[in-house]
Amino acid sequence: MSEREPRIVDAAALQRVGLQISGDPGIRGELRYENPAWIFGHRLKNCSVGAFTFFNAAGLTSAYRVQFGRYSQIGESSVIGPPEHPYDWFSNHPFAFTRPSLLPSMYVMPEFVRLAPEESDAPSFADETPNDTIIGHEAYVGVGCFVKRGVRIGDGAVVGARSVVTRDIPPYAIAVGSPARVVRLRFEDHIVERFLALEWWRYDLAPFKQRVDFANVEATLAFFEERKSLGELQPLRPDSYRITQSDAGLMLHQLDRPLYFA
Ligand SMILES: CC(C)(COP(=O)(O)OP(=O)(O)OC[C@H]1O[C@@H](n2cnc3c(N)ncnc32)[C@H](O)[C@@H]1OP(=O)(O)O)[C@@H](O)C(=O)NCCC(=O)NCCS
Repeated sequence: MSEREPRIVDAAALQRVGLQISGDPGIRGELRYENPAWIFGHRLKNCSVGAFTFFNAAGLTSAYRVQFGRYSQIGESSVIGPPEHPYDWFSNHPFAFTRPSLLPSMYVMPEFVRLAPEESDAPSFADETPNDTIIGHEAYVGVGCFVKRGVRIGDGAVVGARSVVTRDIPPYAIAVGSPARVVRLRFEDHIVERFLALEWWRYDLAPFKQRVDFANVEATLAFFEERKSLGELQPLRPDSYRITQSDAGLMLHQLDRPLYFA
């Protein structure tokens, strides 16, 4: 994926390119996103965020190497995809398995530097362990959830407040509890199949907003199925960006294609 010339940006400039941050932007490592996305000050490390995804603005959420789809909705005070530690090693403390580039904030302490590995080309435990965590398109994660690294939450799934998700959640399932278990689907099977065939999040729905009632599921599904079969749905192709850090501030790199369905 090629990129245009990066530039230094502040919060106001980011808002003009569809990213809402606040105070501490919360970005660690890098962030990829599609316009628009609301991350406020939540702490996202090496994450991708699809268009229209928002993080509830109150208690802090943190996410690590997570691919958020389009239209996902993340409740406050959730922890998504945190790194695992190698508890079957001699020690599972970071001194045993990390690298300066992975945990720069720990390497500011001389006593830690004395003990921990120096930068090395050898893969670290973090490099070799899975894996990205996937939050599907239009998935809704309730407040205060824990989602284990590597889990995939399906498109359209709902995770109840304060759930502990340790296994994949199928599309359009409602899962609750600790550990999270599926209690039912959002809709009957045949409706879910139609949603998954339509994949409405791929398309620009805005031109049709006056013609549908989103509370009326079957009529709206039928409307968009017909538009799709007639070739009237245009792909949603949001401007997309990558943000990195530099000594001068956040750097904005424009990507040449959307994160999804390019
Ligand atoms: C999961 C949720 C969407 C289900 O809502 P609902 O369809 O009205 O569900 P019900 O109240 O009918 O609950 C169904 C069952 O799941 C249980 N349940 C619901 N939410 C639960 C949760 N978070 N944890 C554990 N169990 C839960 C109910 O007790 C009920 O169990 P029962 O059948 O044994 O009585 C809702 O309870 C929830 O957690 N919403 C999250 C709200 C939130 O975090 N908003 C943030 C906005 S960004």
